[in-house]
Amino acid sequence: MTRDLNFLHRIHNRMISIKQINEKDIDLCYELDSNTILLWSKKQWTNEFKKEGTKIFGLLIKNLVIGICVLQIVIDEAQINYFVINKKFRKKGFGTYLMSYLIKKCEKLNLKKLLLEVSHRNFTAEKFYSRFDFYTVGIRKNYYKDGSHALLKEKKLTTK
Ligand SMILES: CC(C)(COP(=O)(O)OP(=O)(O)OC[C@H]1O[C@@H](n2cnc3c(N)ncnc32)[C@H](O)[C@@H]1OP(=O)(O)O)[C@@H](O)C(=O)NCCC(=O)NCCS
Repeated sequence: MTRDLNFLHRIHNRMISIKQINEKDIDLCYELDSNTILLWSKKQWTNEFKKEGTKIFGLLIKNLVIGICVLQIVIDEAQINYFVINKKFRKKGFGTYLMSYLIKKCEKLNLKKLLLEVSHRNFTAEKFYSRFDFYTVGIRKNYYKDGSHALLKEKKLTTK
C-alpha cells in the first residue's frame, strides 16, 4: 500500500487533488453515483448537501472527479455516508489516497471515531476498510433492499 501511495505521489504529484465539493457540483456527484453504486437520486444528493455537519470531498485527476466521499460530523464523531471510486480507476491506490486524507482531516479536527455501514456481501469494501482498522461493532439485519445485512464499522482515531 505504501508503495502504491509513493507511486501516486511521484507520478501524479501535480495532477491529483482533493477538494471540498459544493452544491453547484451536484451533477458530478450524481453522474459518478449513476455509473457506480446507484445509491441516491438527485433529490437525495441535494438533501445531502443541505445536511448540517456534512462535508463532501472529491478526488480529482486534473479536472476529472474520480472519487467522492460524503462525511457527516456529529459532535466528536464522523460518519462516512458515501465512499466511491470510479470503476476505471479502482485497484490503483486512489481509494487509499482518499481515505488516508479523510483520516488525517478527522484527526486534525480532534474527532474520536470514524463510523460507516457496509453490506456484509460487499467483500471488496470490507477488505478495503479492514486495511484502515475499521472493526465491526454491530449488525443491522436485512437492512439493504437486496436483503443483505449492514455491518456497522468503527475506527478509533488518534487525537492530537
Ligand atoms: C472499495 C473501493 C472504494 C476501493 O477503492 P480502490 O481505489 O479500488 O482501493 P485501493 O486501490 O486503494 O485498494 C486498497 C486495498 O483495498 C482492497 N481492495 C480494493 N479493491 C479490491 C478488490 N476488488 N478485491 C479485493 N480487495 C480489494 C485491497 O486490500 C487493496 O490493497 P491491495 O491493492 O494492496 O490488494 C472501490 O472498490 C469502490 O468504489 N467500490 C464501490 C463502492 C463501495 O463499495 N463503497 C463502499 C460502500 S460503503
